[in-house]
Amino acid sequence: MLYAQSGGVTAVINATAGAVIEAARRRQVKVLAARNGIVGVLREDLIDTSRETSAAIAALRHTPGGAFGSCRFKLGAIDRDRARYERLIDVLRAHDIRYFLYNGGNDSADTSLKIAQVAEALGYPVKVIGVPKTVDNDLALTDCCPGFGSVAKYTAVSVLEASLDVASMAESSTKVFVMEVMGRHAGWIAAASGLAGNGPDEPPHIILFPEVPFDEAAFLARVQATVERVGWCTVVVSEGVRTPDGRFLSEAGGRDAFGHAQLGGVAPLLAQRIKDRLGLKYHWAQPDYLQRSARHLASRTDLAHAIAVGKAAVAYALAGRHAVMPAIVRTSDAPYRWKIEPVPLAKVANTEKVLPKGFIRRDGYGITERARRYLSPLIRGEDPPPTGKDGLPRYVKLKNLPVARKLPPFEPAD
Ligand code: F6P
Repeated sequence: MLYAQSGGVTAVINATAGAVIEAARRRQVKVLAARNGIVGVLREDLIDTSRETSAAIAALRHTPGGAFGSCRFKLGAIDRDRARYERLIDVLRAHDIRYFLYNGGNDSADTSLKIAQVAEALGYPVKVIGVPKTVDNDLALTDCCPGFGSVAKYTAVSVLEASLDVASMAESSTKVFVMEVMGRHAGWIAAASGLAGNGPDEPPHIILFPEVPFDEAAFLARVQATVERVGWCTVVVSEGVRTPDGRFLSEAGGRDAFGHAQLGGVAPLLAQRIKDRLGLKYHWAQPDYLQRSARHLASRTDLAHAIAVGKAAVAYALAGRHAVMPAIVRTSDAPYRWKIEPVPLAKVANTEKVLPKGFIRRDGYGITERARRYLSPLIRGEDPPPTGKDGLPRYVKLKNLPVARKLPPFEPAD
């Protein structure tokens, strides 16, 4: 079995990796991992996970980041990128890989699907399973995505805590706190911040979603009104917020291999506008990678999802399923109940699930009860990592010993 991690990593993607390796070990299946996702497969840069102790594999459960390295690397259309696809199959064949598990978001689902199709066309017998992960929570056909519950918890808790700070300072100092969250084109993480409070006077007072075009005048009027009424104001802004003509309010510059603009920097921009137009003192925060790596505050529910999709992916592969992804299916909100079911990769690849209209309050600045019902179980429970005497978490660093190469070198870069 070959396992690889892809795209932006999360606080719990390694828990999925650990679950995959443990489940495969129980079935006496050897697991190789690719270093840096599909790039490692193309380079034949493979890791032998059987050289890791069971304690090290178990510790993946509580270690953030991507233990084998990840990548943002786009494979082109099958007919135009033939050499790379053939190389991938050559590498799988050289190492007798019968199961390929690719752990990523929608771009990675596309990559997995293409590999599945090429393997079929070339007659190479490999079962390809996409394993879901993304803090953006934008994968189709799954109720939520492993990684999201933890970033949602971090965001809601941070808004709650920072708002207590602003409230203390507001009388004679800071009046506005602006926090920027990830999520690309989808407002799921921004929505999760809404769990921090309830009602118009509790933070966050204003949430700016990518799904709602930004109206500067209306926004500033709302900040002003909130400061007059409450004394201070907490704003959460999604990195993907756009102007009415569709431009991102802030692009950090540059694009990744999939053509996605690198977003970031909208919080300082809005904070400065607030200072210039309203004369209010502000603080702003862009948690950036902190939000998706905060394993110390991971959601136990999210962790359970991450482990479950890993186990299911192994079971599906060994049962001969092909080109599917284990999806999380919610069977009840309260009590929260869920199960895992396979869905076709073809229906997941390249689609983006944005916030439904019914999750955004009619005024566009907050979440509805329906959103709350959906979000609230996902942040429940904790599973803190063990800490040492030095007060730091005991995160594991795997040996990641290479598998001997069997093929000539190949450089995947354009
Ligand atoms: O896709 C997950 C995500 O964290 C997005 O929310 C964010 O825009 C992006 O990754 C950042 O990607 P990178 O780490 O490649 O810059």
